[in-house]
Amino acid sequence: MSALPRIRTFLFWFLSLAIALASWRWLALGVELSMPPMFHHVFKKPVALYVHIFFAPVALALMPFQFWAGLRNRRPAVHRWLGRGYGMAILFSGTGGFFIALNTNAGPVAASGFALLAVLWLATTARGIQLAMARRIAEHRRWMIRSAALTFAAVTLRLYLPLLAAAFGFETGYPIVAWLCWVPNLLIAEWLLLRPQSRLALTRLKSST
Ligand code: HEM
Repeated sequence: MSALPRIRTFLFWFLSLAIALASWRWLALGVELSMPPMFHHVFKKPVALYVHIFFAPVALALMPFQFWAGLRNRRPAVHRWLGRGYGMAILFSGTGGFFIALNTNAGPVAASGFALLAVLWLATTARGIQLAMARRIAEHRRWMIRSAALTFAAVTLRLYLPLLAAAFGFETGYPIVAWLCWVPNLLIAEWLLLRPQSRLALTRLKSST
């Protein structure tokens, strides 16, 4: 593997695992201390909040393992079990995320950005799992790439938000990031899936014949 793909793979693993672990800081410190802007959800939507912030990091932490070809090939049963865990984590945290999105203090632009993200996250993951169960593996792979692009929104949000807050202030930056954290990820996933030279495009051709 040349340098660029190695760096990409390292960043994918490192950022996913680091942000998943950091997101569980509330387990030690509590929500009020570790994520003050979320504290209002404790009173209005406590179940949705706790389910979301417990299970969403599970999905993020499991995601890189599912793209590890060595594990998939050598231990397909482990891939299937981790996949069930990833799907359940998204079922719970996506549903919770949808309800806390509707309840955000950040206004309708942020609410609609996060709510649509939640719906697409649930839908792409459900479709990917349904295709795996039907043994339509090439298509399963394509839908799980879309699902992962959306899971990775947790990373891109935390990378972009400080920059947007510095440029426009938090009040303006936050609604922007509610869309910017996932729309480009999904477009990049679609571009990867469409590139004629990519292995993914070949699997698309194979699966449609
Ligand atoms: C991809 C679909 C996701 C949606 C729709 C979503 C939605 C939301 C929403 C609406 C909030 C509260 C925002 C507010 O009140 O202004 C939130 C907070 C949070 N989300 Fe998600 N989220 C998603 C993915 C993830 C993932 C994969 C993680 C894994 C790390 C995660 C971890 C958290 C955490 C820890 C918080 C508390 C905020 C903080 O970190 O300070 N979310 N999410």
